[in-house]
Amino acid sequence: MPKNNTKTKKVEREMTLEDLLVTKLKALYDVENQLVKALPKLAKKADHEDLRRGFERHAKQTEGHVGRLERGFDILEIRPQKLQSDAIRGLIADADWVIKNVKGDAALDANLVAAAQYIEYYEIAGYESALAWAKLLDMVDLADLLQETLDEERETSDELMELAIAEVNERALGDEGMGEDEEDKGKEDEKEDKKDKKDKKDVKNGKVEVEEDEEEEEESEEEDETPEL
Ligand SMILES: [Fe+2]
Repeated sequence: MPKNNTKTKKVEREMTLEDLLVTKLKALYDVENQLVKALPKLAKKADHEDLRRGFERHAKQTEGHVGRLERGFDILEIRPQKLQSDAIRGLIADADWVIKNVKGDAALDANLVAAAQYIEYYEIAGYESALAWAKLLDMVDLADLLQETLDEERETSDELMELAIAEVNERALGDEGMGEDEEDKGKEDEKEDKKDKKDKKDVKNGKVEVEEDEEEEEESEEEDETPEL
């Protein structure tokens, strides 16, 4: 026999789309507040001036995102509340790892962009879902607020990637970042240079006679065949 049959089972109603929207706003509120603290750290570590300015600008924008979410809670007539997002804490922890472990200014910049892109895409995904639900629920004012923030997140992500492709990644590539083919070619050039120097030295010391190589002979033959005008 079951020991305790007297416990009343808690009956929970199914969640509505509005419930999901509120839950998402609370999670985004936590995300944005976490980023208000984290983004200035990324800005401080960025070496490239445009990257640093970009992070600083987005840190300021993020304060605005917090404000917009608070206006959103106002519209829904609920008090602003955070729902802890483990994901954003993980992404920020990854960015902290990059700051601590990636050596060299150029390499760090390239990896800061990569870390920030994870964060931006995560935010974009959250706002896209929230916006779709707000639209479906005909919450026009809330949808407008979410759209404004979503546009800024997308713009930031695009700017970061453009800067990475145009400058930051190239700087990280540096001299050591040559591809295998280029590296092999570099070694060959170096060998040839050494051989040339040795040959010249030998010629100077009278050790060898200078011989025209085959290519030069061919060239001279071709020249011989050219009729005089
Ligand atoms: Fe944001």
